[in-house]
Amino acid sequence: MKLLIKNIAILAGIDTGGTLKKCGEEMAHFDAINDAWLLVEDGIITEFDTTADRPAPTDVDTEVDAQGGAVMPCWCDSHTHIVYAGSREQEFVDKINGLSYAEIAKRGGGILNSADRLHALTEQELYEQAMERVREVIAKGTGAIEIKSGYGLNTQDELKMLRVIARMQESTRLRIVSTFLGAHAVGREYAGRQGEYVDLVVNEMIPAVAAEGLANFVDVFCDQGFFTPEETARILEAGAKYGMRGKIHGQELAPSGGVEVAVKHQALSVDHLESMADDDIAMLRGTDTMPTALPGTSFFLNMPFAPARKMIAAGLPMTIASDYNPGSTPSGDMKFVVSLACIKMRLQPAEAFNAATINGAAAMGLSTDYGSIAPGKVANFFITKPIPSLDFIPYAYTTPLIARTFLAGIEQYIRLW
Ligand code: NIG
Ligand code: FE
Repeated sequence: MKLLIKNIAILAGIDTGGTLKKCGEEMAHFDAINDAWLLVEDGIITEFDTTADRPAPTDVDTEVDAQGGAVMPCWCDSHTHIVYAGSREQEFVDKINGLSYAEIAKRGGGILNSADRLHALTEQELYEQAMERVREVIAKGTGAIEIKSGYGLNTQDELKMLRVIARMQESTRLRIVSTFLGAHAVGREYAGRQGEYVDLVVNEMIPAVAAEGLANFVDVFCDQGFFTPEETARILEAGAKYGMRGKIHGQELAPSGGVEVAVKHQALSVDHLESMADDDIAMLRGTDTMPTALPGTSFFLNMPFAPARKMIAAGLPMTIASDYNPGSTPSGDMKFVVSLACIKMRLQPAEAFNAATINGAAAMGLSTDYGSIAPGKVANFFITKPIPSLDFIPYAYTTPLIARTFLAGIEQYIRLW
């Protein structure tokens, strides 16, 4: 099956050099050509060019007219918690009234509130709620996503979450990777017995998750008031025994040693970084651990933003992701995340696009197949309405410019309501 996309005013995020991630100054280059076409065969990108250099092929099965819009690789959202039950708008109001995220968590709200709600739902109900969010993010241009467990907090409910993710992997063309986050908070039954809860994660949960092959990665909320770097190290070592690499929540609420433990255990990514120090940046240089900023979380919690400019100046690669979850950022809108990265972290649009595509794919271990418009990669792309330039995308920060999403070369027709 040959699919041609023609009349593309700007074909962006292209690559013919096998780039798997962009670091430092490379992030300023989001390569694009004008007046172009794109050829897809059986769901894989095969060729592209400008019409001036080479007319579009005619021996195709289907033609799609981009009508002068831009075509870009789908967003690769490397950090989400979109399998959750219900919502937590009461805590949103509590925050407006002056309570902090940490204070809400301390009095038993927050993650534990979501765990109670999740416990009460069947797998089917949880699946349906999560799939509604999946449909929304696909419509907004996301093509690959990481989803974490972490609202179970006991073995059965953690497995329930991960089984829901496995079912989602089967039933959508969105590329999904899964992460076991049993150490997101101490489960209610273990209140005051954090050490025993960590034992449970290490001795029972991780082996059970591995036995069913339910997780690609392991995560720990390594932060003040949650898990210590020592506990995080134990959990990372336990995951590594089963081939699960780390993707750590670190340095969100305080400078809490998250970067150091992530680097020491060769985690694939260390995420949040709102409280990152210059030492942490130095520590990440020359490592394979991808720093990931979550600007939507900083925005929603009214907290500092990760020091993105410093990371790029130090030559680091950098990813941005949505962190879509019910407590700290109930949104998976990656276009808005790109705008926030530009407005609040001072990224150039090109840097933000790279952070949200190729580097996002790298932070999920997927960049050989996703994250750019490159021959041989899966044809996950979106078409925008006609726009004056790529910079217009983050500039028009609430305009729904993403008109059509294709996953593995197949258009996704989504009715949201
Ligand atoms: O990434 N920081 C820890 N976990 C989530 C929030 C989870 C929640 O509040 O439900 C986050 O922000
Ligand atoms: Fe998170």
